[in-house]
Amino acid sequence: MSKSSSNTKFHDHILLLVFIISGLAVLTPILATDHIVGANRGWNPGQNYTLWANNHTFYVGDLISFRYQKNQYNVFEVNQTGYDNCTLDGAVGNWSSGKDFIPLNQAKRYYFICGNGQCYSGMKVSVLVHPLPSPPTAPVSAHNSSSDAAVLVVPQQGFRALVVSLAMLCLGFGWV
Ligand SMILES: *[C@@H]1O[C@H](CO)[C@@H](O)[C@H](O)[C@H]1NC(C)=O
Ligand SMILES: *[C@@H]1O[C@H](CO)[C@@H](O)[C@H](O)[C@H]1NC(C)=O
Ligand SMILES: *[C@@H]1O[C@H](CO)[C@@H](O)[C@H](O)[C@H]1NC(C)=O
Ligand SMILES: *[C@@H]1O[C@H](CO)[C@@H](O)[C@H](O)[C@H]1NC(C)=O
Ligand SMILES: *[C@@H]1O[C@H](CO)[C@@H](O)[C@H](O)[C@H]1NC(C)=O
Ligand SMILES: *[C@@H]1O[C@H](CO)[C@@H](O)[C@H](O)[C@H]1NC(C)=O
Repeated sequence: MSKSSSNTKFHDHILLLVFIISGLAVLTPILATDHIVGANRGWNPGQNYTLWANNHTFYVGDLISFRYQKNQYNVFEVNQTGYDNCTLDGAVGNWSSGKDFIPLNQAKRYYFICGNGQCYSGMKVSVLVHPLPSPPTAPVSAHNSSSDAAVLVVPQQGFRALVVSLAMLCLGFGWV
């Protein structure tokens, strides 16, 4: 009884390990970027954040971060009406730590404004978040008649040798 339960536990650990490793393999090439609003000028009045946003490409999973004097400014996520009119229309969140990291988890346009009147002085920014680009590896659908033809060009002898050695290998492992 205890033996089988420890076996199950062992299997769970192996499964977890495999899961973590494959997860890392998938995630490693995708590095999330932290886009610091206004770069070294931060989140302050008198900036044109449209220029800043046009200079960046945002992808799902990236962060946008706002740096400012705490208690002086803040950040509200609003909808387009709120952004256009400097109102809190459609507000879905607000931040005020002075160093706010906001995850951009959806492929959509986000709107952020300062909620204390400084929106009128330019403290508003809108960013379009793109879906993640497809991985650089060749898609499976790339397998088509022209690539199939290339396989058939393999010299007859070499091809047969390959088939034979594969067959031997399978027999050796008792797969057939
Ligand atoms: C910011 O720059 C954009 C692009 O040049 C321009 O269209 C916009 O009018 C500017 N905004 C302000 C408030 O100056
Ligand atoms: C755009 O990005 C480049 C490279 O990071 C930088 O040199 C340039 O000053 C930026 N321009 C604006 C308007 O932020
Ligand atoms: C700005 O607010 C006015 C009413 O205050 C509204 O009619 C208008 O639609 C708003 N602008 C946008 C782009 O929604
Ligand atoms: C923004 O939210 C307000 C309040 O919920 C709503 O009246 C308005 O239609 C919304 N605007 C947009 C562009 O979704
Ligand atoms: C700011 O966000 C908090 C929740 O994080 C919410 O309780 C509060 O009402 C928000 N403030 C405004 C002015 O929307
Ligand atoms: C097959 O590959 C050719 C180019 O090598 C490409 O033009 C064609 O669209 C591909 N067909 C399919 C079904 O992927």
